Amino acid sequence: MDGLGLHRRLEANAGLLTFGILVVSAIGGLVQVLPSVFQDSLVAPAPATRPYPALQLIGRDVYIREGCSACHSQQVRPLLAEVRRYGPYSRAGESAYDRPFLWGSKRTGPDLHRIGGRYTDVWHRAHLMDPRSVVPNSIMPGYPWLERRAADADGDIMQRMRALRFLGHPYTDAEIDAAPAALAGATELDALIAYLQGLGASAGAPPR
Ligand code: HEC
Repeated sequence: MDGLGLHRRLEANAGLLTFGILVVSAIGGLVQVLPSVFQDSLVAPAPATRPYPALQLIGRDVYIREGCSACHSQQVRPLLAEVRRYGPYSRAGESAYDRPFLWGSKRTGPDLHRIGGRYTDVWHRAHLMDPRSVVPNSIMPGYPWLERRAADADGDIMQRMRALRFLGHPYTDAEIDAAPAALAGATELDALIAYLQGLGASAGAPPR
């Protein structure tokens, strides 16, 4: 059979064509995915990356619940303009303890992966309560209710940390036992600010 005959047979037979498409796209998929499973630098936590302390963990959940990632990415791309604006580009190992990761792709507001330490807690508080009070033409919504809800309102921080430990986050018993005390008296706003201030801490030395 010449090549054209084989092609005709393949095109005329829906089952065979579907099978062929699946085989080809599976090979393409494996070529993309397998390196990320076996390449250590993509799987292992980056040297300065630690599991989130209790208060930051709650802050991260607030960030997810309030949909901050609808407007903010957490992924500095390895492009000169981005690195100049935001800081060291993001590396895979920095997300080792992010479940789910919050890289995002929508930037109505700036990227936040290196926001930690850029502003004071006082600035963040004012900004999250009413963004226009510090950035007059901001279009970001305010989140004043975060100040009225306790960080430990759900009372399940120890269970959350144990669940993450089960998935491989190296929390010690002492860290888990101390978690309720770490949340005592804090509001969701405090937790969110702690989370924002911790972002970028895993950058370590700027990559060249
Ligand atoms: C509707 C889109 C939108 C949403 C939702 C949103 N933001 Fe923003 N954010 C912006 C815009 C636009 C700016 C830039 C203007 C400003 O600083 O207020 C910004 C700025 C910021 C900044 C300052 C960044 C910098 O580099 O100066 C922080 C921090 C921030 N947002 C945190 C948050 C958090 C936390 C949430 C969720 C509770 C959130 N944002 C939700 C649009 C949004």
